[in-house]
Amino acid sequence: MPTIRSATPADLPQVGKALANAFADDPIWTWLTSHDEQRYHRGAPGFFEADARSILSGPGQVLVDENLGGAALWCAPDHWRSTVGQTLRIAPPAFRLLGARLPRALASLTAMEREHPKDPPHWYLSILGTDPSHQGRGVGSALIHAVTDRCDEEGVPAYLESSKESNIAFYARHGFEVTSEHRFAKGGPMLWLMWRDPR
Ligand SMILES: CC(C)(COP(=O)(O)OP(=O)(O)OC[C@H]1O[C@@H](n2cnc3c(N)ncnc32)[C@H](O)[C@@H]1OP(=O)(O)O)[C@@H](O)C(=O)NCCC(=O)NCCS
Repeated sequence: MPTIRSATPADLPQVGKALANAFADDPIWTWLTSHDEQRYHRGAPGFFEADARSILSGPGQVLVDENLGGAALWCAPDHWRSTVGQTLRIAPPAFRLLGARLPRALASLTAMEREHPKDPPHWYLSILGTDPSHQGRGVGSALIHAVTDRCDEEGVPAYLESSKESNIAFYARHGFEVTSEHRFAKGGPMLWLMWRDPR
């Protein structure tokens, strides 16, 4: 089992790179960037780095493995909704990544937040990614367990959205169940909403 620890601010540039590589073929990100790979690779590391920084500055957890091959951004119970401060901090890298497609991304985020379960309080896995060169070695599983073990001890549920149907079985092995599906706009990608009750 890889060793998991909390990220430090010095780790965040590498966290941004690992997450950008992990999500390079993700259906939602390719849809949001209209398959503009150059723009994605230019903007995504900075965007994910800023996202991780905003979680690190609050009550959530940014977890990494010892090789910084993967990262998980976990929002603490009752802190899953983006605050105005977080949205403003993330706006410049989001614009660099998405340009004129930013309004569509914000509308998608609003739709996701509308579907987000309000109660009971739960840990929210907002981003999980392992760089493809580090996948299949247990990093993703360890990044999940670090928080779901705590959920089980404290009797707290957990929630996530899966952007790939192929990840559903992976998350199911960690105790998450699909509760509903959401489609982004007409012809847009799907999202599977998954909930985990504590054991
Ligand atoms: C989903 C994702 C985070 C999994 O990360 P990972 O580090 O490869 O996860 P793990 O190594 O723990 O598990 C992956 C598989 O490798 C297997 N595995 C775990 N440890 C292993 C080891 N030591 N040796 C070989 N295989 C291993 C697991 O059994 C698992 O198989 P399964 O899918 O059949 O359950 C990763 O594939 C990823 O980043 N994907 C792209 C981004 C993404 O989709 N993120 C989730 C958005 S919802």
